[in-house]
Amino acid sequence: MYQTIQLIDKLEHTSRLTKEEWIALIEDRNDKTAQYLFERARYWQHKYFAKRIYTRGLIEFTNYCKNDCYYCGIRRSNRQASRYRLTREQILECCSSGYGLGFRTFVLQGGEDGWFTQEKLLELVRAIRKEYPDCALTLSLGERSKESYAELFHAGADRYLLRHETADDQHYRSLHPPELSAERRRQCLWHLKEIGYQTGTGFMVGSPGQTPEHLAEDMLFIRELEPHMVGIGPFVPHHETPFFQETGGTVELTLYMIGLLRVMLPALLLPATTALGTIDPLGREKGIQAGANVVMPNLSPTSVRKKYELYDNKICTGDEAAECRNCLNQRMKNIGYELVIDRGDYRSQIKEENHV
Ligand code: 5AD
Ligand code: FES
Repeated sequence: MYQTIQLIDKLEHTSRLTKEEWIALIEDRNDKTAQYLFERARYWQHKYFAKRIYTRGLIEFTNYCKNDCYYCGIRRSNRQASRYRLTREQILECCSSGYGLGFRTFVLQGGEDGWFTQEKLLELVRAIRKEYPDCALTLSLGERSKESYAELFHAGADRYLLRHETADDQHYRSLHPPELSAERRRQCLWHLKEIGYQTGTGFMVGSPGQTPEHLAEDMLFIRELEPHMVGIGPFVPHHETPFFQETGGTVELTLYMIGLLRVMLPALLLPATTALGTIDPLGREKGIQAGANVVMPNLSPTSVRKKYELYDNKICTGDEAAECRNCLNQRMKNIGYELVIDRGDYRSQIKEENHV
């Protein structure tokens, strides 16, 4: 335990650990060291964000996907998935109702769907940018060429989310079909950063075959990339995928990784994810208490929400789900935090202060 605490202190003071140290810190954790970690994580969370939790309105606009990731419920081989695409009008309607609820940042997320050609996407981005000049527009559309990313950026998108999923090449191969590679994934992230996007990455906790060594590599990669946001959530098996019998990730390890991320990069945007809320009714609250500072309520029309089923039992898909905003407001209040709905462009002001 002594060594684990020392490693947490070293991480806090230098922001860097060796791969061996990361492995030890992850392997040798226990309840006591986790509590110590969460205290340090909350210290930095409070220092930079006080009790403010940022919101990003998520619009899941297509569940068609050309990829076949072994873990994902909307993979192309899942013939049971009921496919949908929102029309341009429906997407703009989501933005409009989100704006009315106070959201100033929209995340357009979808599978890799060729129906939305570059032209269609550019037109969509321009339309949203024109109608909502005061809002941040985030895209989450998977892997694209650098040129495509750049055009979308110049059309008005300012942020992009692309989880690296796992930084270990071999582990990546065990989660994806041969045409996908970890190297190409990471290349996309570097392109996004070069273009000037505020970039988010992330990984699943407890994905099949994941070891502490893989998690250590994830932390090293994130330290190198220095993204604005890191989304992590437990792997949750989906019944229509090759991983239907695999064990899911735990709340405990997910929270621990959130704490480590907060201490490593204290100004990071860290969502308490829907997957975490799915495996534990108080998962998102626990995520905040471990250092997270973002929630991403669903703004998709309730009629399609059940269809964007990346994993089993995903929350916020019922009729009550139009109320995500109020629900989260109350949940955050219950634990002494406050939902804020502005763009959350805090980083330029505090970058100087950040110890990284
Ligand atoms: N369990 C948890 N997360 C998943 N994702 C996809 N499938 C699953 C699953 N079965 C995550 C991936 C992806 C993000 C949109 O959702 O990390 O990047
Ligand atoms: Fe969606 Fe509670 S956050 S229903």
